[in-house]
Amino acid sequence: MFFEPKTITLKDGRSAILRSPEPDDAEEMLEYLRMTSSETDFLLRSAGEELTMTLDGERAYLERAADSPDTLMICCFVGDDEESRVIAGNCALNFNSRRKTAHRASIGIALKKAFWGLGIGTALMRELDFAARKRGVSQLELEFIEGNTRARALYEKSGFRIAGVHPNAFRMADGSLAGEYLMIKELK
Ligand SMILES: CC(C)(COP(=O)(O)OP(=O)(O)OC[C@H]1O[C@@H](n2cnc3c(N)ncnc32)[C@H](O)[C@@H]1OP(=O)(O)O)[C@@H](O)C(=O)NCCC(=O)NCCS
Repeated sequence: MFFEPKTITLKDGRSAILRSPEPDDAEEMLEYLRMTSSETDFLLRSAGEELTMTLDGERAYLERAADSPDTLMICCFVGDDEESRVIAGNCALNFNSRRKTAHRASIGIALKKAFWGLGIGTALMRELDFAARKRGVSQLELEFIEGNTRARALYEKSGFRIAGVHPNAFRMADGSLAGEYLMIKELK
């Protein structure tokens, strides 16, 4: 799905561009995926875990996402000009096409650490909410790993509430087990 590009102002006064990632962003997207999983233990991929996606695979994936009516990806780019602009973060909204689950859509989001706390998460969540309402979805869903207080704060601020927990869902880097929390937001 295509997202109409938009400029936002970050908490530190810089501006950022929100737009759909394009196939030409594939290399930077792979770097972003490597980086985010090395900067936090709260994503599914662990630090140092090899990406299974090749550059060609990622290009094809971004092409498919752009063409798919069921996937909306929004990337946040920060930088003064085209040369210095980098991916600060990315989010995705996945719609369901089956009749029984078409009222639900799920969200994923991750930013590079250098861009945490600048309001990007809040801005991306707002855009995903608009897109879901536009599509007629009545329930947004997401999961987070126990202990991810920053993500939980963003989600609660964005109107989500905890709906359940999957105990011992993850083995963390320090060997401990952590639960997976399910959150939902009913769109009225
Ligand atoms: C979780 C994440 C997406 C949040 O995005 P963000 O851009 O940093 O969030 P925002 O700056 O919009 O802040 C949202 C809210 O988080 C809360 N928050 C900010 N800093 C915080 C901190 N240090 N600890 C706890 N909560 C904090 C505040 O309530 C803030 O709202 P406010 O700006 O009105 O005060 C981002 O930190 C991230 O990508 N983390 C790593 C990957 C990850 O955990 N993804 C989620 C997987 S489920």
